[in-house]
Amino acid sequence: MPEVIAITNQKGGVGKTTSATNIAASLAIHHNKKVIAFDLDQQGNLSKGLGVEIVKGHTVLEALLRITDHTPYPYQENFHIIPADNTFSTFALNIAHSQFEDLVSEVGKENLLKDYIKNNCAEYDYVILDCPPAMDDVTINAMVAANKVLVPLQAHSFSLQGLQTVLSMMTRIVKRLNTDLDLGGVFFVQHQERKIISRDTADKVKDVAQGKVFTTYIRTSVSLAESSDESVCLDVFTYDKQLEQKSNGATDYQNLTNEFLGKQFQESIYQRKESSSNGADKKELDQEPTEIAIADTELADKFDRFLKTKKP
Ligand SMILES: Nc1ncnc2c1ncn2[C@@H]1O[C@H](COP(=O)(O)OP(=O)(O)O)[C@@H](O)[C@H]1O
Ligand SMILES: [Mg+2]
Repeated sequence: MPEVIAITNQKGGVGKTTSATNIAASLAIHHNKKVIAFDLDQQGNLSKGLGVEIVKGHTVLEALLRITDHTPYPYQENFHIIPADNTFSTFALNIAHSQFEDLVSEVGKENLLKDYIKNNCAEYDYVILDCPPAMDDVTINAMVAANKVLVPLQAHSFSLQGLQTVLSMMTRIVKRLNTDLDLGGVFFVQHQERKIISRDTADKVKDVAQGKVFTTYIRTSVSLAESSDESVCLDVFTYDKQLEQKSNGATDYQNLTNEFLGKQFQESIYQRKESSSNGADKKELDQEPTEIAIADTELADKFDRFLKTKKP
């Protein structure tokens, strides 16, 4: 089955869609992985940003409610899309109320996306979920379907609050609905190293995040905004290729994706070690750093609670 990655933050405009688009593109283009991205936001920004021509009735809404069999949009050979448009705004209403009652009862509504992926996405290596800016039924569906959550953060107190909300929600989901869910990591977007607030916020999160912060920062890059403009509609790598350039945005998302894959590889070794651990290995594992410096108690507490639910 594919690795399912949800990209989420409760706050809008923090780079979720840009990250979903370009992480998916990097996996497909640089790592030759077969990728499908789900646009889970009624604003349809991922779909619009990659120029998806939406056929009425063939969006993520109908996919989840099993109304039509539909073929994902082939943006590139290895990168397919299940698009969204504003009809997705009725999703929450539809599943809670009567229109589709015989198709979907309220019981189990959080499993719709997971079931769809299980039944339709076996051919893919990665499923990327671009979440809406809310901890609603759609994001719950994403967290139930996902193995990993990635959280883009801007150096701003609002986005830290967004991170706290994501962690609280994840803690509840792990306890009740999806024990496989894990935090893939937190990464900084639109990072401006020279700005004190950027540096301070990054340091604060690093202090409490117990190794869950990516070392790659996504810098502010005009190519990221240009590539998804309606006059272009491309991922940043394909855009750069057309212009025969290598932008900071492309460099950073390529590095971030490499770092993510590196972390996954390390984790798989760690898990193999743990399952076959003899005394010597166990001792080595016990020496993994567990101490954290508490810089922001509330955020630290949220990390702590989430990570505790993940400990066997
Ligand atoms: N690193 C970046 N540099 C410059 N512009 C960016 C960057 N990341 C995102 N943007 C722009 O910021 C806006 C919001 O980003 P988006 O990914 O749509 O956020 P979200 O999905 O969280 O609402 C978009 O116009 C996008 O092009
Ligand atoms: Mg978005």
